[in-house]
Amino acid sequence: MYKISDDLIQLGMERIKDFPVEGFVPGSGPDSPALMLVGEAPGENEVETRIPFTGRAGKELMASLSSVGLAREDVYITSAVRSRPYKWGSKKERDGSQSERKYNRAPTKKEIIAHAPILDAEIRDIDPPLIVTLGNVGLQRLVGPEAKVTQLHGVLMETPILKWDEENQRFEKTEQTYHILPTFHPASVFYNPPVRTLKEDDWRKIGALLKFKK
Ligand code: URA
Repeated sequence: MYKISDDLIQLGMERIKDFPVEGFVPGSGPDSPALMLVGEAPGENEVETRIPFTGRAGKELMASLSSVGLAREDVYITSAVRSRPYKWGSKKERDGSQSERKYNRAPTKKEIIAHAPILDAEIRDIDPPLIVTLGNVGLQRLVGPEAKVTQLHGVLMETPILKWDEENQRFEKTEQTYHILPTFHPASVFYNPPVRTLKEDDWRKIGALLKFKK
């Protein structure tokens, strides 16, 4: 099992402490995974279990992995941000009363920058043979803000990726190139059901790539 250093966890907590986020969910998986999955940020379930993708989206993701003969233990799962970004909202109870609760939200650019050194270290140490980004947040973190999952899903790219340069306070391209195949975030099928067939096609491509490598 790969483990990021306690120092890096401390740094990540320190860099994100002024933003509305909670918890810290470490990435999870072996040192030499079949591939690395890069999602968005943990949600409510993950902050409780401290394991990525253990909620409803996780079930969907595990089905995709199993469709290509992989299980959670075979892959390294991480995301652009390792704490849960939340916003307060009100929920109407059955009895008509309102209660305040936390809702998940997408991470901001500042939060992504706060945790960039963590993802950079994971990619550097693990050097995955294939990176599968899940949704636009993971894709744009690594490839840039112009990249769109609707255009690039299912396309295998060999490309430098973005790495945070603390000294110059900007993302810089790596010298090394990586194999990246973007696909949709597993939760996207819940609010956009037609995406399911596109996502399944992408996973078939991922399965074919893995077979080719063996
Ligand atoms: N979405 C993510 O990107 N990561 C998780 O761990 C859960 C949901």
